[in-house]
Order: sequence, then structure tokens, then C-alpha cells
Amino acid sequence: MRVLILNGPNLNLLGTREPDTYGTATLADLEHDLRAYFPNIQFRFEQSNHEGRLIDVLHEERGADGIVFNAAAYTHTSIALRDAIAAIEAPVIEVHLSNVHARESFRHHSMIASVCQGVIAGLGMTGYRLATEALQALQQSEQGGNQS
Ligand code: DQA
Repeated sequence: MRVLILNGPNLNLLGTREPDTYGTATLADLEHDLRAYFPNIQFRFEQSNHEGRLIDVLHEERGADGIVFNAAAYTHTSIALRDAIAAIEAPVIEVHLSNVHARESFRHHSMIASVCQGVIAGLGMTGYRLATEALQALQQSEQGGNQS
């Protein structure tokens, strides 16, 4: 099973960026933990601060079994990312470290949620693991529950 973990703008600074909101774990910690937790999944990890680069990676991984996507601030603004997700086959799960609904009102709306399989917010790094588990379950149900 192939899964893309895609992170958007400013998430390269995780660990030092607003730790009260986003915690102290880094993207390297996330990669280490997910690879250890899911040894049978073939992961690709990408982060970009650029909207076009995120779109290019979504296109490149359109045939993946699933995508876990924290689009960060672009979540709230980007029609282009919404269209990219709608254009590809791979199921996408939207993830946010913080509970965006408990924060500023401009974070309450997601441009991408309606084209994602599901949304997880407010559970920190655990959200990425739960999203990956959901993608596994989705793949198993599509395959009639016969494979892992
Ligand atoms: C975020 C929430 C966004 O509103 C914010 O712009 C981010 C991170 C989160 O993971 O909680 O950069 O996506």
C-alpha cells in the first residue's frame, strides 16, 4: 500500500513554531513514528510552502492508495488545491494538528473538506496515524476485506 503524507506551508517549522498550538514534535518525528507504526506501508513524505508544488505532488501521487494532507493555511483559501484533490483518484484525508474550529473564525471554513474522504482536527500528530489507519480500512473495504 502506498500513502503520501503531504504537509503545507509553515509546517516545516514544527517543533519550534507556536508550540502551545502545534506541540513540540517535528516533521522528522512524524515520519519516524509513522514508518515505525506502519512498517508495511510504502510512505512518501513531502512538505512545501508553495501552493503549486503541493498541486504537483498531488498530481504525481494521483494513483496512490491514499493521501493524508495537512494543507495548513491553504486549507482556508485555496480553490486550486480543492480542484487538484477533486481531479485525482486517490482518497485524501484532511488533517489539522490543532482544533481549527476552536480557533479564529477564518480557520473554520475549509475549501478542501468537501472533496476529501474525511477530516481529522485537534488531535495533534495522532491525527496523521488515525488518518493512515482510515486509509488502510478504506482500502480493505474496497478489496472486500481480503488484504492488508
Ligand atoms: C493547521 C491549521 C491551519 O489553520 C494553520 O494555518 C496551519 C496549521 C493545523 O495543523 O492545525 O498552518 O493546518
